[in-house]
Amino acid sequence: MVHVRRLEVNDVGAVVALVNQQLAHASALEPAINHVVDNELFDEALRAQRAHVWVAIRHGVLVGHLYGAVLANARGTSAWVGPDGVSFDAPDALDALYARAGQAWIDAGALEHWVWTPDRVDAFLPWSELGFAKEHRRGVRALTDLAPAPLPPGLELRPGHDHEWAVAEVLDAHLDAAQREGPNFFLSPALPSESITATLDDPDVDWHVLARGGEVLAQCVSYPLDPRRGSFDDVVHLSGVVVRDDVRRRGLGRILVEQVLAAHAARGARYAEVHWRVTNRDAERFWRRAGFVPTFTRLRRVIDA
Ligand SMILES: CC(C)(COP(=O)(O)OP(=O)(O)OC[C@H]1O[C@@H](n2cnc3c(N)ncnc32)[C@H](O)[C@@H]1OP(=O)(O)O)[C@@H](O)C(=O)NCCC(=O)NCCS
Repeated sequence: MVHVRRLEVNDVGAVVALVNQQLAHASALEPAINHVVDNELFDEALRAQRAHVWVAIRHGVLVGHLYGAVLANARGTSAWVGPDGVSFDAPDALDALYARAGQAWIDAGALEHWVWTPDRVDAFLPWSELGFAKEHRRGVRALTDLAPAPLPPGLELRPGHDHEWAVAEVLDAHLDAAQREGPNFFLSPALPSESITATLDDPDVDWHVLARGGEVLAQCVSYPLDPRRGSFDDVVHLSGVVVRDDVRRRGLGRILVEQVLAAHAARGARYAEVHWRVTNRDAERFWRRAGFVPTFTRLRRVIDA
């Protein structure tokens, strides 16, 4: 029998230990997952979030925890569980934890629940039994072994210019159109805050374009990631990778990504991360072929109100 209650200060050490064990296990099975935890910082974070962290107790022993950040944006309110936000020794502990935490999220208006789990079947199944489905995959690539071929003659990789934002919007529309196609069927229109121009306005974001004779054929954006548990330090995140639809399957996507990664490696990045929708099968093949190793999968459940 599992009993669930809120985290108490005396529980913090046990939760830190469980998360360390869990990341060590995940990293042993997939070395692209970083097992190193700054325990002092994690300890502090748990204390600060104490009122929102649930723990599972079986026969007097703490056997799991669950914490979801409830956040609101223009799409609504959602609960977000990171790779360090959950631990459990057996599915019945997760069932009991989610029953309590999920209710608290719903009471706070969060009907959409997101959870990062290691990209393994055994990590997914207990959540799948609770109605969660795979949405996104996170891929990681070390930047130590890059050997990009020289750019083919006529192609140029350069930063996009401010006066070219209309070009970025056109290519972004190509990306949206591709996302709407089956089996992806991502029909949800982007919010203004998610638009390419809002992204390019962020001073931390670099915009890269691949051009030939003044014509932009492909683009992507990149930005440094803050340290996070499960990831390594010095990570650059790539997103919005798109090749104009009439010039796909000619190797341009591969060239763009390799050149951008080499540029970031030269500036000190040691790893790159990317997220893709699991239903975007072209992206799935593309990122794996480009050397990105799946580490975590993000699961989603929407509560039918
Ligand atoms: C994903 C995407 C960026 C790939 O760009 P691309 O330029 O087509 O990529 P590449 O040409 O390097 O590789 C794609 C495929 O073409 C193949 N290919 C490359 N050169 C080729 C050639 N000369 N002849 C035939 N096939 C070729 C590759 O082997 C690869 O095959 P695979 O998918 O079966 O593994 C592009 O499809 C795209 O813009 N999609 C829409 C936006 C999107 O989904 N972006 C990803 C978001 S996470």
